[in-house]
Parts: sequence; structure tokens; C-alpha cells
Amino acid sequence: MKEKFTVTPWEVSGLVDYDKLIERFGTQKIDNDLLERIKKLARDSHFLLDNGFFFSHRDLDKALESYEKGDGFYLYTGRGPSGDMHIGHLIPFVFTKWLQEKFNANLYIQITDDEKFFFKDDAKFEEIEKYAEDNILDIAAIGFDPEKTFIFRDSEYLGKMYPIVMRIAKKVNFSNVRAVFGFKNETNIGMIFFPAIQMAPCFFEKKICLIPAAIDQDPYWRVARDIAPKLGYPKTAAIHSKFLPSLQGPEIKMSASLKETAIYLSDDPKTVKEKIMKYAFSGGQPTIKEHREKGGNPEIDISYQWLSIFFEPDQKKLKKIYDDYKSGKLLTGELKQILIDKINDFLENHRKQKEKAAKLIDKFKYNGNLAKKMWNL
Ligand code: TRP
Repeated sequence: MKEKFTVTPWEVSGLVDYDKLIERFGTQKIDNDLLERIKKLARDSHFLLDNGFFFSHRDLDKALESYEKGDGFYLYTGRGPSGDMHIGHLIPFVFTKWLQEKFNANLYIQITDDEKFFFKDDAKFEEIEKYAEDNILDIAAIGFDPEKTFIFRDSEYLGKMYPIVMRIAKKVNFSNVRAVFGFKNETNIGMIFFPAIQMAPCFFEKKICLIPAAIDQDPYWRVARDIAPKLGYPKTAAIHSKFLPSLQGPEIKMSASLKETAIYLSDDPKTVKEKIMKYAFSGGQPTIKEHREKGGNPEIDISYQWLSIFFEPDQKKLKKIYDDYKSGKLLTGELKQILIDKINDFLENHRKQKEKAAKLIDKFKYNGNLAKKMWNL
């Protein structure tokens, strides 16, 4: 049977079968043993691991081994500033903060303003720059350790990175990136060169680099891993997340051009309420009477899924919502209201943190210690 979904760094579409994706990409599932090992070393668990949202990896075991030996690992993640950030964009950063805290790791956050400029024909760099600066505040609001975190824009720091970018670029040929990324003759050469830039932070320190990111970014890490030994570095490790389903259902991609498919970090409480009530795909019955009789279907209900992925980490409370919805005791409007309240609390807190982060931004962007580490490659 043909698998009708697409996952590339630039396109995610269709209903993603995550087990098949693991096969297709050749990654590893995070199994119970590995889960237990992380928990033991972290002396804590994280709901994004427990609920399987982070579900796949490459060499995570090696990164943990290095930590056990006392050599540790460092973290790398990033963001392409193509527009305002929505909740789906923020989730990997929430998990990254936890990893940084538990494993006491340095963290590099790459803002690929260059990529977003190359990618779209009509992209205006002045606009991308505005998004980049605002996205950086949203990211900083997560509360990373200012002593151990370096957030940088490619357009500002490429000069410093260039020595490692050069070494990478020399080891990767066109037929290789064409096969991995699907480049064509018409693809502009900015895009063709760009993988060398996104791979650069995989080699910022001479220890294992662990990348927490959505799985669509994995093709870069595949190439980085191929060339790592040739450059004299350990192979890059990765821990992959699934995608947060869009409001209208898992097959509709959350998109900057369709504002009603996602909840933006800047959405006010009224907008959140309207969007959830109007667009969140429901597993409920058409009438209240029918709903009370037959019950709803939490499996396909997006409000329930958003609660289970991110907004209700408490498994007992979640189970009660599940049972009550399935039995018909909880109505669709009530379920949606639970989610609306959670989202609005989250966003209110986020905006407060974002204001505070503005004061720390110079520290993040000009982190002398880490900058030295990466520049003295
Ligand atoms: N290409 C990513 C995007 O479009 C941004 C990015 C750069 C990234 N480096 C990364 C994402 C490392 C995750 C991990 O969003």
C-alpha cells in the first residue's frame, strides 16, 4: 500500500504514520529501557517523553553513556523565523529546557533567517529580521540558563561559524544533498549551500551534540552523521518529536498563511476561545442528546489530543477527561472550555516571561563563554 504522507524539512502533509516514518528515516524508537535510563540519569521524568511525543532518536544511548562517563553532551536546536510562533513551535523548546536543566548542558539555538530568506521567492529580509527578533524573545521566554545558552542569527554570526561551515561544505557533494533534500536545477544556490550552515552547530564542541527537534529536521542530522568521522567529531545524536496536530485535524498542516489552523503565542483570550470553539475538530456527536447516549470519541478529538500532548500533564486528570468524554458525561463545549482555560493560562504566563526575557536578551545573544567555545573550534 502506498503511504500517503510527506515529511521533509520544508513540507509535512498527510496523516503521518510515525512507526512507518521511523522505518523510512532509519531512526530508532525510544523504547522502555531507554526511557527508564533517561529517567534514572535525570532523576525525573518529563511528560513529553512519557506520553510518547518525543518518540524516536539517533544515538541517544551514546549521549547518555557519555554523560554517565562524565564527558556529557551539549544541546543544539533552532527555529526558522518565517512568521509568528505558534504553540506547536514552542513545544520542543520546553523539552529542551528540561534537558538542559537535568543534564547541565550547554545549548546553542540557531535562528535560520538566511534559510527563510532563500526558501521563499517573495520573502523580504526586513520582515524576516523582524520575526527573528520577536521569535528570539518567545524562545528566551522559556527560561533557559543564561550562562549556558547562546541564541544566534545566522546572518549575524556566519562569519564566526564560517571555518566549520567550510570544512562541512567541502565534504558534502551536490548529488548527496540533491538526494537527501530533493533539490532541483531550479533550486537557488542559497538553499543548496544552506545544509552546511544548519549542520555547523553539530560541530561547535568536541563532544556529542544532542539535538531535540521535530523529526522533519532529521535529514540534516543524517548528513552530519555521515561526515562527522571525516571531520574528527563524534556522530551527532538526536531526539525527535512528533508534530502537534492542527486545530482542524492531523491532516491539515498548521500554517502561517492559515491563521485559524493554529494558536499563536500572541493570540488574546478572546481569539483563543473563538478559534477553539469554531475550529477545533471534535469527536463529539451532532446533538447533545446523541452525545449523552453514545458518548464522544477522544481519540480523534483535537481538544483532547492537545490536552494529552501538552496542556494536561497530570495523567489522572487526563484519564478522567477521557472517560467522561467517552461516556457522554462531558460535552464537547465543556471539553473545549477546559482546553481554552489551559491555553489562556499558558499564554498569559508566556507573555509575562517574554517581557522579562527582553532584559536577558543581550546575555543570550552575546554569551561570551559559549561564543568562545564555538569560535575556537
Ligand atoms: N530549519 C529549522 C526550521 O525551519 C530551523 C533549525 C535550524 C533547527 N537548526 C535547527 C530546528 C536545529 C531544530 C534543530 O525551523
